[in-house]
Amino acid sequence: MSGNLGLFFGQLLRNPKRISAIAPSSKGLARKMVSQIDADTGEVVEIGAGTGAITRFILGAGVAPADLSIVEMNPEFCTRLQALFPGCDVRQMDAQNLADLPRSNVGTVISGLPLLSIPEEIQQNIIQGAFDLMRPGGKYVQFTYGPKPPIAPSVRESVGLEWRTLPKVWLNLPPATTYIFTKKA
Ligand SMILES: C[S@@+](CC[C@H](N)C(=O)[O-])C[C@H]1O[C@@H](n2cnc3c(N)ncnc32)[C@H](O)[C@@H]1O
Repeated sequence: MSGNLGLFFGQLLRNPKRISAIAPSSKGLARKMVSQIDADTGEVVEIGAGTGAITRFILGAGVAPADLSIVEMNPEFCTRLQALFPGCDVRQMDAQNLADLPRSNVGTVISGLPLLSIPEEIQQNIIQGAFDLMRPGGKYVQFTYGPKPPIAPSVRESVGLEWRTLPKVWLNLPPATTYIFTKKA
């Protein structure tokens, strides 16, 4: 784990805007992020996986490695993710291109992306792509450090989203809230 922290902070110094977090997610936040996964979830896609702080909990929730695609833009993080999670489909790619994933039964997208620092037009591509990829009833799970929903109002409106939140994790650095977005009926 300390190797992961060194890698995380090294990449944070190089790409502060793209990483936009002062530390990897805590175990408490990771547990909240995977709390929606159950036997009916099917395939899972994680976007913005970093050094895998949430990934290990996705697998711990019972998702088979073959059913998990891990999407991360940073090549150094991808090399680490491939070593840590053999059998998972690790992709070095932009989360705007989720349509490229060869998946047909995705029930949940788990996102560690720094959405608040991502421009609205890129958010639109990512969120629309996530809901196009997921089967009906799919859940997009996203944490945020801010006080408002992390997806911009225009994007929520255009994709037709509603949401609920889970209790804030105070022992995360900084404290974070998990949002579960679904399409309105
Ligand atoms: C805040 S870190 C989260 C890392 C990890 N999920 C966690 O919770 O500790 C955000 C990650 O998103 C990645 N990222 C940012 N924009 C991306 C994009 N458009 N597509 C894929 N990954 C992206 C960054 O490289 C970084 O690893």
